[in-house]
Amino acid sequence: MEKPMLNLVIVICYLCSSKLVLSGHAIESPPYRVVHSESEFELRLYKESSWMSALVQDTTSFEKATKDGFHRLYQYIHGANLNSSEISITAPVLTSIVPSVHGPAEYYVKLYLPAKYERTPPQPLVELNLQLDNWRSHCIAVRKFPGFAKDDRFSKEFETLVNSLNKHLIGKPAILEAESPYAIAQYNASYHLSGRLNEVWMDLSGITADC
Ligand SMILES: *[C@@H]1O[C@H](CO)[C@@H](O)[C@H](O)[C@H]1NC(C)=O
Ligand SMILES: *[C@@H]1O[C@H](CO)[C@@H](O)[C@H](O)[C@H]1NC(C)=O
Repeated sequence: MEKPMLNLVIVICYLCSSKLVLSGHAIESPPYRVVHSESEFELRLYKESSWMSALVQDTTSFEKATKDGFHRLYQYIHGANLNSSEISITAPVLTSIVPSVHGPAEYYVKLYLPAKYERTPPQPLVELNLQLDNWRSHCIAVRKFPGFAKDDRFSKEFETLVNSLNKHLIGKPAILEAESPYAIAQYNASYHLSGRLNEVWMDLSGITADC
């Protein structure tokens, strides 16, 4: 009984936060530069950034993993940290999917930390089981797709991204595998707004020298 209600509250509250964008408070996002752009995908060079990350195991559902992880991150930014700090919501909510040969995939749900907290954010309460994830500057291939990030949808989007990347990388010493880790970036996770945009991300570090 409790869980669905909780999830509903989280979604509504994230909606409240995205409303702030409309009333003039810009939501921070990790800075990047587009280094290559085609109709099907683009390559972005992200700068150094810090993320808070929630590992979710023992589920095969992307949606469930994202809700569980986001719930913990939501608590963290709303004071469940050693400084009792309120941290502004950012975009996107990123769910990394790391396939495993031995069992279900592992999901890492991540929230970008505002630049003023880079590297030294307030520490999360231990029971939230969150990890700080400091990113070096690196190259990410991105394919945008509209609509809802549903379990049956995103793996197709990832395949399409891999196919377009493989065409782009022809003649270059790079091999992409369909079993590679990838991530879904959701902007203002307002599950009921039309016209929302999601992205599938693939980390190209060590795969291409394009950026
Ligand atoms: C959703 O987020 C994007 C990127 O952060 C922003 O440009 C857009 O205005 C937001 N839309 C709404 C409805 O909040
Ligand atoms: C959190 O609190 C500690 C100890 O009071 C302080 O040193 C640190 O700067 C604070 N961090 C942030 C991000 O406010």
